[in-house]
Amino acid sequence: MPPLDMLPRSAMPGEWVPPDYFRRLKREETPGFDAPLEVDLGCGDGAFLLGMASHFPERRFLGVERLLGRVRKVCRKIVRGGLENAHVLRLESRYAVEWLLPHGSVARLHLICPDPWPKFKHHRRRIVQTGFLRAVHDVLVPGGEFLFMTDHQGYHEWAGEKLDTFAEFERLPWEDGDFFYPKSDFQLQWETLGKRMHRTRCRKAVTGRPDQE
Ligand SMILES: C[S@@+](CC[C@H](N)C(=O)[O-])C[C@H]1O[C@@H](n2cnc3c(N)ncnc32)[C@H](O)[C@@H]1O
Repeated sequence: MPPLDMLPRSAMPGEWVPPDYFRRLKREETPGFDAPLEVDLGCGDGAFLLGMASHFPERRFLGVERLLGRVRKVCRKIVRGGLENAHVLRLESRYAVEWLLPHGSVARLHLICPDPWPKFKHHRRRIVQTGFLRAVHDVLVPGGEFLFMTDHQGYHEWAGEKLDTFAEFERLPWEDGDFFYPKSDFQLQWETLGKRMHRTRCRKAVTGRPDQE
């Protein structure tokens, strides 16, 4: 029997519980499917997610977070802010991208300050791996963007090397202040300590390989 907290359950207000965890979903099964979807992997306390959702009411935002306490906190903020275009999914980020989210459905996928796993022997635990990037490519709409930000220079270089092997991704410039991008909780914490953010932005080529359904 699966652990009790993995059994299907009712959603808290602000939470999104998918109709099925064990198959790839169809676009119409995601919340508010007819508006552009942006996904924030490892959304933490939701500062970035909520900032974006308030600023872009015409888009919809899905935070993915594995810790229940943080999911509850983000749900409370969504409800308090009356944000109908924001939801949070309690799930492992890689699973959501590799197995659950519909192909060709995400306009922008944000990965902000993920755990850098700095020790060499732990690099395989980093979320940015070739298979993950392939899955990111598949869930993005043609022309969709993957935005990755970290304070860890080694992780930034690691992601860059992996991205360079994908002809289907076009690298785009991204400097602080180029466009509206609220600071996440961890970004604020690191910047307060004087750390600099490293940014990686790339776009799925419009003429890339066809999406698999
Ligand atoms: C370093 S914090 C960054 C949070 C937020 N993005 C920010 O910048 O403030 C990493 C977050 O990702 C979550 N997380 C780590 N690994 C995860 C995974 N595999 N699936 C889902 N969430 C994950 C953690 O619980 C934590 O909230």
